[in-house]
Amino acid sequence: MQTIDLDAVVALEQRCHAFPWTRGNFADSLAAGHGAWLVREAGEIAAYAVMMPAPDEAHLLNITVVPELQRAGRGAALLRQLFDLARAWKATRMLLEVRPGNVAALALYRRHGFAEIGRRRGYYPAAGGREDAIVMAREL
Ligand SMILES: CC(C)(COP(=O)(O)OP(=O)(O)OC[C@H]1O[C@@H](n2cnc3c(N)ncnc32)[C@H](O)[C@@H]1OP(=O)(O)O)[C@@H](O)C(=O)NCCC(=O)NCCS
Repeated sequence: MQTIDLDAVVALEQRCHAFPWTRGNFADSLAAGHGAWLVREAGEIAAYAVMMPAPDEAHLLNITVVPELQRAGRGAALLRQLFDLARAWKATRMLLEVRPGNVAALALYRRHGFAEIGRRRGYYPAAGGREDAIVMAREL
């Protein structure tokens, strides 16, 4: 993912998330040197992910499959690629936050070896207030 891709990515993000990242969020990640990848199929963006390197750890910040292509293995395939990319960074653990109500993401993460290690209170904006985050981790 590069700056030139952000119009398309932000448009998809708004379709895929109730509380989407802003252009500024993506731009900040790119400027900070986070890993950011697009999966293209026949020239169109099918999925994308953003991951932050930290000493010994990789922090998965965003993984998204476009709605009409979900539930066909793309999220799982992308996650496996992210494990390899994180190992190439010498990370030994991957961390992420997820909304307790995000059934699809929770199922994906559990199925791929993530376990809950804690909660962050009021981490996410939510309708009428804030929502906790479940913090999950997986050894690499
Ligand atoms: C979470 C997300 C990335 C999963 O991508 P996907 O391509 O649909 O996932 P896959 O088809 O690879 O599914 C892998 C496993 O995840 C689980 N899963 C995925 N979608 C699910 C759903 N809607 N309900 C229950 N389990 C689900 C299943 O265990 C599935 O394996 P199975 O199909 O063999 O049962 C996708 O739903 C998405 O982009 N959601 C919106 C954005 C988001 O919430 N991202 C995560 C937080 S940043």
